[in-house]
Amino acid sequence: MAVLGTTAAFWLIHIAILFSLSFAADPFAFFDFEVSYTTASPLGVPQQVIAVNNKFPGPVINVTTNYNVVLNVRNKLDEDLLITWPGIQMRRSSWQDGVLGTNCPIPSKWNWTYQFQVKDQIGSFFYYPSLNLQRAAGGFGPFIVTNRDIIPIPFAMPDGDIVLMIGDWYTQNHTALREALDNGKQLGMPDGVIINGKGPYRYNNTLVPDGIDYETINVDPGKTYRVRVHNVGVSTCLNFRIQSHNLLLAETEGYYTSQQNYTSMDIHVGQSFSFLVTMDQNASSDYYIVASARFVNQTVWQRVTGVAILHYSNSKGKASGPLPDPPNDVYDSSYALNQAMSIRQNVTASGARPNPQGSFHYGQINVTDTYILRSVPPVTIEGKLRATYNGISFVKPETPFRLADAFNVKGAYKLDFPSQPLDRPPKMDRSIINATYKGFIEIILQNNDTVAQSFHLDGYSFFVVGMGSGNWTENSRGSYNRWDAISRSTVQVFAGGWTAVLVSLDNVGIWNLRSENLDRWYLGQETYMRIVNPEDAGNKTELPVPDNVLYCGALAKFQKPQKASSATTIHVGSKAYLTLLVVFFAMIYILC
Ligand SMILES: *[C@@H]1O[C@H](CO)[C@@H](O)[C@H](O)[C@H]1NC(C)=O
Ligand SMILES: *[C@@H]1O[C@H](CO)[C@@H](O)[C@H](O)[C@H]1NC(C)=O
Ligand SMILES: *[C@@H]1O[C@H](CO)[C@@H](O)[C@H](O)[C@H]1NC(C)=O
Ligand SMILES: *[C@@H]1O[C@H](CO)[C@@H](O)[C@H](O)[C@H]1NC(C)=O
Ligand SMILES: *[C@@H]1O[C@H](CO)[C@@H](O)[C@H](O)[C@H]1NC(C)=O
Ligand SMILES: *[C@@H]1O[C@H](CO)[C@@H](O)[C@H](O)[C@H]1NC(C)=O
Ligand SMILES: *[C@@H]1O[C@H](CO)[C@@H](O)[C@H](O)[C@H]1NC(C)=O
Ligand SMILES: *[C@@H]1O[C@H](CO)[C@@H](O)[C@H](O)[C@H]1NC(C)=O
Ligand SMILES: *[C@@H]1O[C@H](CO)[C@@H](O)[C@H](O)[C@H]1NC(C)=O
Ligand SMILES: *[C@@H]1O[C@H](CO)[C@@H](O)[C@H](O)[C@H]1NC(C)=O
Ligand SMILES: *[C@@H]1O[C@H](CO)[C@@H](O)[C@H](O)[C@H]1NC(C)=O
Ligand SMILES: *[C@@H]1O[C@H](CO)[C@@H](O)[C@H](O)[C@H]1NC(C)=O
Repeated sequence: MAVLGTTAAFWLIHIAILFSLSFAADPFAFFDFEVSYTTASPLGVPQQVIAVNNKFPGPVINVTTNYNVVLNVRNKLDEDLLITWPGIQMRRSSWQDGVLGTNCPIPSKWNWTYQFQVKDQIGSFFYYPSLNLQRAAGGFGPFIVTNRDIIPIPFAMPDGDIVLMIGDWYTQNHTALREALDNGKQLGMPDGVIINGKGPYRYNNTLVPDGIDYETINVDPGKTYRVRVHNVGVSTCLNFRIQSHNLLLAETEGYYTSQQNYTSMDIHVGQSFSFLVTMDQNASSDYYIVASARFVNQTVWQRVTGVAILHYSNSKGKASGPLPDPPNDVYDSSYALNQAMSIRQNVTASGARPNPQGSFHYGQINVTDTYILRSVPPVTIEGKLRATYNGISFVKPETPFRLADAFNVKGAYKLDFPSQPLDRPPKMDRSIINATYKGFIEIILQNNDTVAQSFHLDGYSFFVVGMGSGNWTENSRGSYNRWDAISRSTVQVFAGGWTAVLVSLDNVGIWNLRSENLDRWYLGQETYMRIVNPEDAGNKTELPVPDNVLYCGALAKFQKPQKASSATTIHVGSKAYLTLLVVFFAMIYILC
């Protein structure tokens, strides 16, 4: 039995999927995540990182549209844990979103099973731990939703699928970084950029010390690969490029784009991109894969560059010489702004559903409400360093908001989040947005902070209709793309500029909106949107409280203690699958 271990778990997942396919319309896929500390030295310095199933980055979740994902998370950290799935819309089920306003944290040594459907979704995403700056230490991994067979993808089937998780990195652990922020210090310049948990290739002996493990991507000449790139970092926008190769942009966070070649792409924190990359070079040597810090003084930041290796199977030697150049516009954001707005959706391609992505004519729908969210550099409130939207720094939830609704807990939150910045001193509060179900809203992100910000909304994707520098005004609406704006869930807001998005509020629940810049988020730059259907007739627009829900805060008395049980590699989610397990072992028995 012991020998079966992980391979058995692997086959079990696959067999479970196969069986489900033949039994039910929407199959189930089962996963077990054991989240623990481990030691790694991505930048040559040993440090404590967060691993999932002993992997850093964590394992890939790779499912198909409409699958039901059942994922048992075992918390082996010494602190609370929640995993969140940005971009996965958790339709009707904010119960599974994995942020403090929707879920009680999973205490140390406990486990909790998420269950959600990747309803009507396709594309490239990633998961990560949402609490306490843990993402700065790892715990992230790729989340892929593939098309159903009946819906063709808008390009030839690639010859391979490559995932690159890029991000800035500190050699301090997340508790040390947290302590710095708690003491009113900013995090300062990161120590490097890592790619798939590994440090830079030694492209320059002065800049990169010897003995650092780097990532190598092996490819065959002439083939085309889908390269999925995610910025999982703390706060640095990264310029991504592959020496001598074009990046044909095909998808961002779940929507197919109008395909265009780029020599490099700015990837902001929290964003995901798919590029089709053809191995059309002569392989006279290996090629550099580069992720370099953006909108910073390159002279100072040079050491903070991520470099991996693209190795053709017929390569004639190692990569050498200077890295390919980044865009030369550090002090002029118009190039970056134009690049961002050049990302548009392919209106004729089908996404998760058979009808074309462009069949939802968002540009013809009247906006019901406008919210302007203004960010400024961190301020001091009640003697603490805090970050704000509209002058409100969010106070950590104690009782998840929708659970508080279900149990009539009063005072868990306030519905008074202002729809625009108010002329009043900043404060700490639990103010959330009272949004209207079936509304069609406009959100203006106005960034008066000194850094490029990433804005993310859970439970939805939104149309990125406009971006500009300076202050947004009503006249800015004239520049909106009302035809083929990209739909995604994380968008950049340049320092001193604005970004406008449109969202159709069709997903009931309480949804987090936040800065993906981890330090800003930690300091309170977030809020939630409450979207409730006043005429909900029996779980149609929102699923009921899950049976295994955890209770905390005002509801802590309902929580039964959980025995710390030993880890199991194989977890079977329901009685039906116990039967499958029996069938499975019977098959092994027969085959042997
Ligand atoms: C914890 O995991 C066990 C199996 O290892 C499972 O039976 C149980 O339902 C899980 N608990 C929760 C709250 O999900
Ligand atoms: C995801 O699964 C699909 C098949 O369903 C496969 O083609 C692809 O290579 C997988 N991707 C990764 C990164 O595992
Ligand atoms: C985290 O960093 C702090 C400060 O450098 C150090 O005291 C602590 O031992 C570190 N924790 C671990 C588990 O490495
Ligand atoms: C390595 O980087 C240093 C510092 O930027 C630079 O002076 C030097 O020319 C580089 N060496 C090579 C071989 O490119
Ligand atoms: C993108 O570049 C490749 C060469 O790398 C070329 O073959 C292809 O036609 C280009 N596609 C578009 C849409 O420009
Ligand atoms: C970039 O940093 C270097 C080193 O501190 C400094 O000499 C240079 O003036 C800076 N460049 C700009 C444009 O600020
Ligand atoms: C758009 O999608 C269609 C598939 O419907 C595909 O044939 C076409 O090449 C795509 N166009 C672009 C510009 O990506
Ligand atoms: C949008 O609003 C305009 C005027 O405010 C109105 O004439 C039009 O019918 C509305 N369109 C829709 C689709 O409701
Ligand atoms: C929230 O909005 C609804 C209308 O969408 C309104 O009926 C309700 O009074 C509002 N609640 C608060 C507390 O403002
Ligand atoms: C932009 O808006 C801010 C806040 O309302 C204001 O202080 C500032 O003067 C405005 N800037 C310009 C250029 O209008
Ligand atoms: C922020 O707003 C102030 C005025 O309120 C303005 O002077 C400053 O230039 C703005 N900075 C950015 C980065 O937008
Ligand atoms: C709604 O959920 C509750 C609790 O799970 C269940 O008892 C009830 O049957 C469901 N109603 C419908 C209409 O599905």
